[in-house]
Amino acid sequence: MSAPALFTPFTLKDVTLRNRIAVPPMCQYSAIDGVTNDWHQVHYPSIARGGAGLVIVEATAVAPEGRITPNCTGIWNDTQAEGLARIAAGIKAAGAVPGIQIAHAGRKASANRPWEGDDHIPDTDPRAWQTVAPSAIAYGPGLDKMPRAMTLADIEQTKADFAAAARRARDAGFEWLELHFAHGYLAQSFFSAHSNQREDQYGGSFDNRARFLLETLAAVREVWPENLPLTARFGVIEYDGRDEETLSESIELTRRMRDGGLDLLSVSVNFNIPDTKIPWGPAFLAPVAQRVRREAGLPVASAWGMDATADAERVVAQEQLDLVMIGRAHLANPHYTYRLAQELKVDRPDWILPPPYAHWLERYKGPGKVAR
Ligand SMILES: Cc1cc2nc3c(=O)[nH]c(=O)nc-3n(C[C@H](O)[C@H](O)[C@H](O)COP(=O)(O)O)c2cc1C
Repeated sequence: MSAPALFTPFTLKDVTLRNRIAVPPMCQYSAIDGVTNDWHQVHYPSIARGGAGLVIVEATAVAPEGRITPNCTGIWNDTQAEGLARIAAGIKAAGAVPGIQIAHAGRKASANRPWEGDDHIPDTDPRAWQTVAPSAIAYGPGLDKMPRAMTLADIEQTKADFAAAARRARDAGFEWLELHFAHGYLAQSFFSAHSNQREDQYGGSFDNRARFLLETLAAVREVWPENLPLTARFGVIEYDGRDEETLSESIELTRRMRDGGLDLLSVSVNFNIPDTKIPWGPAFLAPVAQRVRREAGLPVASAWGMDATADAERVVAQEQLDLVMIGRAHLANPHYTYRLAQELKVDRPDWILPPPYAHWLERYKGPGKVAR
């Protein structure tokens, strides 16, 4: 019997993932001053022990004002990088490739944690800060704080911040870098005319709206090693009724990012405006990701409800996706990848687990066998 597609290795540049399952970035909202702690040190390696090929550390801000909440992780100083280095080592020791998403939240920054409201922190609260964006246009209800339009000097500084973050991520031992160009955060908001009304070289035409993303990629490309995967997460569709136009523009931008040195795109939704009709459902983004893969000629990953065993296997077997991102199922069960392996009758599911677990769960099972 041939191995399930989901459990075949995937090689990108000099990095080989042990299977096609990736744990996407998921904010833990548990850092202080951007610095990770015991929570993160336990959380990330535990998930990696479950067997996924790639574990990507949460959206980690390139600058203080780029955090989504005051408790988001950061990578703008060496103390933060030291904690992240221990996490990268823990993920790698568990057999997964350590990845990190570097991010700037733009006009969605300065927010309360999801379980504390998910809205902007009031300006009267000392924890709040001034947000920045391509234009002084607020996101909308719940996140209604007015951002300050970035100056050209701000834009230069932010590109430099991304490059510095990439350098720190490299030195911390991460082997997979993901630029957060999605979900209505800073980069996504530059590309969307909903949020970018600039009249200079960073707004208006396709070329101008794409400029911040392409220049940020170029700045990062200069410092991120050529032999390691440089990827981005990018919303290619808003579901705002202009889907074909947005998707074809996004595919054209993806081609240009590919030409600029991008190795893989994690295909996502824009989440750049509140008023959309997203067709939520199992693996709903897979056909969109497949189109990006085909038309942009780049490997793709995607998330959002791809965790059902049959869906995860099918999207890889049918070459819709190169990698399946499975998020919340790994929060519910850090060994979710092992469960998938069992369900797909992988030949040696014990290979998915580290020996201190595998011995008991695979080789030594049966009543009474654990008596010691
Ligand atoms: C707790 C939590 C935090 C998240 N944080 C991030 C993040 O930091 N960066 C990001 O791109 N997506 C983030 N997401 C979205 C996930 O990466 C993923 O796309 C989403 O959970 C859908 O996949 P799933 O259906 O397998 O959970 C987050 C999702 C959750 C549940």
